[in-house]
Parts: sequence; C-alpha cells; structure tokens
Amino acid sequence: MKTVLLIVASLFLSCALPAQKQTTFRPATEWPDTEGKHINAHGGGILKKGKVYYWYGENRPDAGGSMNTGISVYTSRDLMNWENRGIALAVSSDTLSPIQPGCIMERPKVVYNKKTGKYVMLFHLELKGQGYAAAQVGFAVADKPEGPFRFLRGLRPNAGQWPVDFSQKDIDEALALDPAKYANWWTPEWRDAVKKGLFLARDLKGGQMSRDMTVYVDDDGTAYHLFSSEENLTLHLAELTEDYLDYTGKYIRIAPGGQNEAPALFKRNGKYWLITSGCTGWAPNEARMFVADSLWGEWKQLPTPFVGENAQKTFNGQSTFVLPYKNKGFIFMGDIWKPKSLSTSQYLWLPIQFQEDGTPTIPYREEWTLKDLMK
Ligand code: DGJ
Repeated sequence: MKTVLLIVASLFLSCALPAQKQTTFRPATEWPDTEGKHINAHGGGILKKGKVYYWYGENRPDAGGSMNTGISVYTSRDLMNWENRGIALAVSSDTLSPIQPGCIMERPKVVYNKKTGKYVMLFHLELKGQGYAAAQVGFAVADKPEGPFRFLRGLRPNAGQWPVDFSQKDIDEALALDPAKYANWWTPEWRDAVKKGLFLARDLKGGQMSRDMTVYVDDDGTAYHLFSSEENLTLHLAELTEDYLDYTGKYIRIAPGGQNEAPALFKRNGKYWLITSGCTGWAPNEARMFVADSLWGEWKQLPTPFVGENAQKTFNGQSTFVLPYKNKGFIFMGDIWKPKSLSTSQYLWLPIQFQEDGTPTIPYREEWTLKDLMK
C-alpha cells in the first residue's frame, strides 16, 4: 500500500511541478524542454528573430529511421530553456506527396528572406521506401517562423549546369569518363575519375545528388545551399535565387572525392570556416575543417578543430550548425546519434575558442554557460 501511495505521489509531483530550469549547457545528456521532455530536434539549425531563437530539427520516432511527424520547432530566449512549439513542417497525408509518412527528412535549416518576408526551409529529403537513393533537397515556406511551413517541392539541384570552376577542358574530360569502366569503387583510377567529375557528369541531366546540408546567408543577403553531393563524395556550394526558393545555377565543388558530410558554415573576421564530418553512417568519426577568404574558394583543408581526449571521434558527435551568439562568439552544434532510438539522440553544443591566428579550436566541456564564449 505504502509503495502504491509513493508511486501515486511521485506521479502527481512529476505532473504538477514545472520542469527544472536549465542554467548550463551539458553536452551528451538528456536535454529537457520546458515540459521536461527530451528535446526532439536532431540534425537541426537555429534562426534568430527579434529576441527569440527558433530551433528546427528532425522530429524522430522512438524506433525506425523514417518520419511519421515532420520537422520540430522549439523556441527560447536564452538558448538553454526551450519550449516545444510543435511540428513546423508536417508530413502529408496525401499518398502522392514526397513528404508522406515513411519519407526521411533530415538536417532542416530555416532562413528569413528580407525581400519576400517569408521563412524558407531547406531540408534533405528521401522518398518513402527508397532508402537514401532519392538524394533530394526539399523546399518549404512559411509566413511565420513557427510555421506552419508549406512544402513546395523536392528536387536535385542544378540540372544541366556545370560548376562555375569547371573549364571547357574539365567538362570535356568529365564527359569522356565512361561509368562502365569504374564499376569497382575505391580503386585509385576510380578516385581520380570521381575528382574529375564521374558522378557530376552522370547526374548532370537529372540534377545533382543532395544529402547532408546546411544553408548560409551572407552579409549581403545572398543565400547558399551547401550539401553532400556526388554519392556523398564531394560537397557542392550553390547560390540560391533572391527569393531563396531556387538555384541561380552558380555553384562550385568543395573537396572533390573528400567524402564530407554534416556541413556547418560560419564567418568570422572576414574568413569563412566550414566544419564537416567524414561518412560513417550514424557512427562518429573525426571532424574536418576548411577555411576560405571567399565562399567561392579556394577552400583549404585544416585538421579537426576538436582537441583533447576522444577528439578523433568528435566527442562522439557530428556537426550540424554553428550559431553566432550576439557579438560574443560562436556555438558549435552537433548531434550524438542513437541509431537504435533516434529520438533519444543527444546534443553536443560547445563554445568555439579561437587561437591568436583566428583558427577555431573546440575542447570538450562537461558543463558551460554563455559566459564561456569568446569573440
Ligand atoms: C550520416 C548523416 O550525417 C545523417 O544525417 C544521416 O543521414 C545518417 N548518415 C544516416 O545513416
């Protein structure tokens, strides 16, 4: 009887008490929202509007890899305490829709378009029952940051377009590559053909593959879609049209054949920094870093910014976004994937430190606050 009473009392208390306020960031732990439930916004990104931060991410089910809800949105004013605002982009009950339940929606990023006054969401879209074969980007739009977002279309970018850094000679060479000759992957000849555009040429007509991704808006308001293309072997950075709903056709390849996923891009003191991961499914690997003076390159590869114990596994995480915080610094946002139950995946948010020459460094911290950010 006593036990029953205790259970009832604790149930009552857990319902009645407000969730505990978060006062620090604690990577790799459960992160309760304002209702006390672990935040379900994976592979996400953040948009700031006024004083409010909007965190968009994959709303993952407890089991399985496909979606049955959509893209979550949470709001916060202090980046630690997040209110669940529900589903910003919902899967569609229309069985002909590319975003019907059973599809995969990953790595959503939302940007505000000052010219149109609309909120634009881009995300990695895979079609129901096709695993990761479709490799599309989804576009959705909303009038308000919390949504509801309206799905516009899924597509493969830049059909019929060669990268702007491809000369006529490069184009001729790529077109001359015979895919039948390179059926065996990972040979030195195959690697060379990939760099020369084996998959770029293969996908030219139907558009380039687009999987892990981010969106970056530069100071002049131009937006760019950065995504893993060419069988996840090469990143593409593609300029979006003024309304952010299409491509201008201008794009470059970054690190051809380098197998980069999970791109997160930021700018500091005139330099563009790009943090990525390698390609090992849900398993963590060593992050990579790139730097450039212009988005159009040249991009130079540097060692991982992560330092200390387990840095070679990125502290078990994978990049998703870098958030500039006021003028005070930058927050690295990553995911610690739990593939058996993706909804329970944890977060790896860490302050980025900068060396004297401006190079980012990210040591682990069990607990930190916004005071730990440095310019
Ligand atoms: C690695 C990617 O970074 C994730 O977003 C997800 O697509 C997994 N692969 C799936 O295995």
